[in-house]
Parts: sequence; structure tokens; C-alpha cells
Amino acid sequence: MRWWCWMLAVMLVLVSVKEMDSANILFLAPFGTISHKNFFMSIAEALAERNHTVTFVAGHQASNSRRRIKEVFVADTNIFSEFSSTFVRNQFSSFMKMFSMSPEYCGKILRSQELQEVQEEKFDLVMLGIVLSECFYSLINKLQVPYIHMTPNTLHESMSDLAGNPQFPSMVGNYLLDLGYPLTFTDRIKNIFSQMVYSVINMHYAIPRMAIASDVDAATLRDIRLNGSLVIVNSVEMLEVPVRPYVPTVIHAGGIHCKPAKPLPKDLEAWVAEAGDEGFIFFSLGSAFKASTMPEKYRLVLLKVFVSLKQRILWKWDQDTMDDLPPNVRLAKWLPQQDILGDPRLRLFITHGGLLSIQEATYHGIPILGMPIFVDQHHNVRQVQDEGWGRHQAWEELTYDLFLQNIHQVINDTKLRQEAVRRSVVMRDQPMSPGEWTVYWVEYVIRHRGAPHLRSPFFTMHWYEVYNVDVWLLLTGVMALVTWFFWWVILTVFSRVCSTIKHKQE
Ligand SMILES: *[C@@H]1O[C@H](CO)[C@@H](O)[C@H](O)[C@H]1NC(C)=O
Repeated sequence: MRWWCWMLAVMLVLVSVKEMDSANILFLAPFGTISHKNFFMSIAEALAERNHTVTFVAGHQASNSRRRIKEVFVADTNIFSEFSSTFVRNQFSSFMKMFSMSPEYCGKILRSQELQEVQEEKFDLVMLGIVLSECFYSLINKLQVPYIHMTPNTLHESMSDLAGNPQFPSMVGNYLLDLGYPLTFTDRIKNIFSQMVYSVINMHYAIPRMAIASDVDAATLRDIRLNGSLVIVNSVEMLEVPVRPYVPTVIHAGGIHCKPAKPLPKDLEAWVAEAGDEGFIFFSLGSAFKASTMPEKYRLVLLKVFVSLKQRILWKWDQDTMDDLPPNVRLAKWLPQQDILGDPRLRLFITHGGLLSIQEATYHGIPILGMPIFVDQHHNVRQVQDEGWGRHQAWEELTYDLFLQNIHQVINDTKLRQEAVRRSVVMRDQPMSPGEWTVYWVEYVIRHRGAPHLRSPFFTMHWYEVYNVDVWLLLTGVMALVTWFFWWVILTVFSRVCSTIKHKQE
């Protein structure tokens, strides 16, 4: 009898501890590419490992089931899937189209049967993917729980206001303009101008339309937009160029998806082993679009170069075979990218330069040859070249000679490899892993009910107060006035003296 009582008591304690510790979290991140989902999923997994339950409204169908993570997928609502399947496209017009169509997509999810069912549950916290998701602020308003922003990119200047972080258009370039660091005078003008245009479009076009899609007024949406407790960003703080100040509510989770390499699958291992001392090259253009939509002239150049190499080439390609495939090239639809990047026999990573791939290459210390296709990839690859651990190969300049030369350079230049290894060491040298760090801060927000004590003072100030523009204007005015007054005095005295001298001479 005594024994049973003890057992029951222990079980009760265990259950209550678990109840206290574990939160029910709603993830709203239905827009984005597969890479974006990978980033969000890494956060969800880190939380699930700590016994939290996550309901993840995702933009791509669940590929496998995970403990304590329930995925909800609303078909035909991920706006990114409509824009990211082919190789050639007009970047600017796609952007504008996406921007203008997003309220319709967001509203469709908000009113879906799936989301109505989700709302029957009780949540402790909402975590919201930033991109094109403003209509969900109305849902957050309804749930009345603290919420956290997440972005699969770095904290772009256009989002700094969500964190109440000071903006630095003087040193941080808009990634779409692809400005190098440090910014020149004209760069800074372009930068400020693009930022102003963006915020006018966002405040006066995007948000009002999102408000209509979500049945609340634009003012409410704007208020809730600035009420998030944290902004979780996909960036490694110590590797940012330039380093910059952050308020404590910006949480860097960059590299959260990076893992030490595991051994390769058996058949791949055998193929790599056969490559011998020359090693192998890994070529992947990511998951956002179909590699086979690549123009034929490019494919032919790639093949011609590959067949002339001593190394073997592992190529991520979305079809099973290729008619003219050289014997040293192996195709695969899916590959364990990080296990490959961590393999000591890998000589080179040829990549489209997506953010996650760049982070993985950094983590595993592998130099890259970047062949960017769209959006931030151009900027990412240029950054890598500036940082000295890789080269840039533009598709428009793809010729046999240049491509071969670039491949040889990245493989043989030991400086590039040393820099890649140095950056890997810097990336791993952090007080906590990105997963532990992120989970700590998410739990902090839950423990402190939204942590309002961390709210940035910038939220209650006008921009001209933040940057002291009014004070500077006053000071400049006073100085101008004083200068003008002294001039006036000097000129008057001088002309009097002159005229008296003239009088005396006459
Ligand atoms: C802002 O969030 C806090 C909790 O984090 C909540 O109490 C408050 O009502 C929210 N304000 C608005 C305008 O949603």
C-alpha cells in the first residue's frame, strides 16, 4: 500500500513538473521556400526537444512525422511555390506580383477550415514568420498571447522597426541593392531612398490591404505589428559584416540547422571512395527551383567542364538520368548535404548561394564557387568573395575556360580554404549552441509573459527624436544665426571704419 502511494506521488510530481515546463506553441509560417521551412523547423525541433508542443502551420507538406510537432498544411496557399520553380525569371516583377497577391493568400489561410480547427486549442505563445504574413496579426489579437517574430533572413533594415532596433542605413546596405561594405556616399543615398520607398509602400499599401484581408482596421494591425516580444533572425552575429549594435530582443539563431556530418549512405560512400585521392566536387543549386529548367547552353558548358576534371562530381538534379552523362558525374534528386559538406574528401562546393547553403559551407569550413540565381543569392555570393573564402561565377559569363579556371582556383588556392576553416571556428565559438540560445529566449518570453521590460524605447519615439534630428536642426539653425550675426557685426564695423577713414582723407 505504502509503495503504491509513493509511486502515485512521484508520478503526480512528474506530471505537474511537465505541465509547468511545457508550453503549447503555435507556429504561423505558411509562406516561404523549402529552405525557409527548414529554418523554422529547426527552431520547432529545438523547442520540441525541450518538451514543448508545436502546432506548425507550414507552407510545404510534412515530409515525415516528428514528436510533439503537429504540421498543418493548407493546400495551394504558399505564394512562394507559384514563383520559384523555373530558372529564368524577372526578379523585380515577380517581387511586385508577390507583394500585391499576398493579402489574398494570407486571407485564404486565415479563413481555412484547417486554421479554424487550430484555433479551438489554447496556446501560450505564437511564433510568426515575418514574410508576407501581416494578416495573421488579427489572429494574434484574438488569441491575446505574447508572440515572437521569426525571419529566415538576417534582420534587414526594413524590419528593424519590428524589433525597435536602431537602423543603420549609413553602414548596412539593402541586400536587394547588393551594395558592398563600406558604403560610398552615393550608396548611402540609394540606401536611404530605397528604405523610404519600402516603408511607404509597406505602411500605405501592403498593410491596409492585409487589414482588409483579415477584417481588422489597419491601425490595429500596425499596433500589433510592433508588439512582438522578440525577433529571431537567421544570422550568425559574430560573422556579420559589419558588426552592429542590437537591442536584446533580436535573437540570432543562424546555424541552428547545422549539424556535424554523419557517415555517407553506403552506395554513395563506395562511389566517393572510388574517386581516390582526387576527391569529389558537390554541385547543388538548392531546392527552390527545378535544376532541369536550366537553359541547355549552360548545361552543355557544365558537362564539358565536368568531363575534363580529374575529380568526381556529385550533382543534385531533379531527374533520374541525363542522356550525355559523363562517367565521372553522378546525379541524385536528394542528398544529405551536410554529411557531404563535412566529408574530408570533398574538394569544392558549387552552390547557388542560398543562405542556408552558405551557412552550412561556413559551418563545415568548405570554400565555395557560387552561381547565384535570384534574390539574396547574388549578394550572398558577392559577400563570400569579398570575405575571401570563395569565388563568384555569373551564369551570363559561363564559358568553358572561365568556369574551369574558377574551379581550379577554388580547389587549389590554400588561402581560400584557410579562411573557410577560420570562419568555421568563429561560427562554432559561441557560449551556447544556436538551438539552446533560441529556446532559452523563447522560454524567457513565456516565463515573463511577453517580457515587456525588454521593449525598446524606440517604439514610443518618433524617428526624428531617435536620431535627434530636431535637436540637430535647432543647433544648426542657432549656429547659422550666430554666424550670420557675427558677420553682420564685422561687416558693419568694417564699413563704418572705412567710411570714417575715407571722410578723414577728404
Ligand atoms: C501587447 O502584448 C502584451 C503581452 O505581451 C499584451 O498584454 C497587450 O495587450 C498587447 N497589446 C496589443 C496592442 O496587442
